[in-house]
Amino acid sequence: MHLAVFGSGYVGLVAGACLADAGNEVICVDINKEKIDRLNKGIIPIYEPGLEDIIQRNVKEERLIFTVDAVDAIHRSKVIFIAVGTPPDEDGSADLKHVINVAKMIGKNMKDFKIIVNKSTVPVGTAEKVTAEIKKHTNLEFAVVSNPEFLKEGDAVNDFMKPDRVIIGTSNADAADLMRTIYLPFVRTGRPVIVMDEKSAELTKYAIREGLTSLES
Ligand SMILES: NC(=O)c1ccc[n+]([C@@H]2O[C@H](COP(=O)([O-])OP(=O)(O)OC[C@H]3O[C@@H](n4cnc5c(N)ncnc54)[C@H](O)[C@@H]3O)[C@@H](O)[C@H]2O)c1
Repeated sequence: MHLAVFGSGYVGLVAGACLADAGNEVICVDINKEKIDRLNKGIIPIYEPGLEDIIQRNVKEERLIFTVDAVDAIHRSKVIFIAVGTPPDEDGSADLKHVINVAKMIGKNMKDFKIIVNKSTVPVGTAEKVTAEIKKHTNLEFAVVSNPEFLKEGDAVNDFMKPDRVIIGTSNADAADLMRTIYLPFVRTGRPVIVMDEKSAELTKYAIREGLTSLES
């Protein structure tokens, strides 16, 4: 399947590499040209056990490319993951500026049906905001999915390859089916893929994170 991943940081890079390793053709996009130039020279900006090997293998086999060309990535991909940063705002809430910028870019440049999958950590209601932003720029059909990421830095590849659970939040049945197909290689050990609506998926990210924090403390 042709996939794009916007944001080549911790989450985007690990997700892009692992999705390519599962046989997809993945375009990793970032606005940071220096980061993309370095990735294209084989210089990985983060250290995660196993990541460099996976990237090298999939670049060599032409399933994984790095680019700043967002428009081309949108045209060539059926499913577009958003994995950009959502740093805390002055009031502590997540700043959605980068997420909305990607939504705008997709709305302005899509030419056919797209599935837009948000992996960034965002407040409940963000899928609606992403939908509204895309609709400002296109009359074409699309589906939005909330697919929160639970990987931990330091064990990110392992966490992505063998997740405890996969949360898929969408009210579009076709998008849910496609997401199940994409995640099939990662849940062969019997881990659950749980489908719910967008808001429930957004809330689940916080519920699980808070649950883990309180267990640890
Ligand atoms: N790092 C983690 O352990 C972790 C785990 C789970 C979830 N998350 C969440 O995932 C999201 C991404 O986190 P991260 O740690 O990967 O962030 P990061 O800061 O490492 O990477 C974000 C990348 O997005 C790029 N970017 C910004 N705007 C862009 C745009 N318009 N188009 C393309 N690229 C753009 C930036 O240049 C940067 O390289 C955040 O919401 C974070 O809260 C992070």
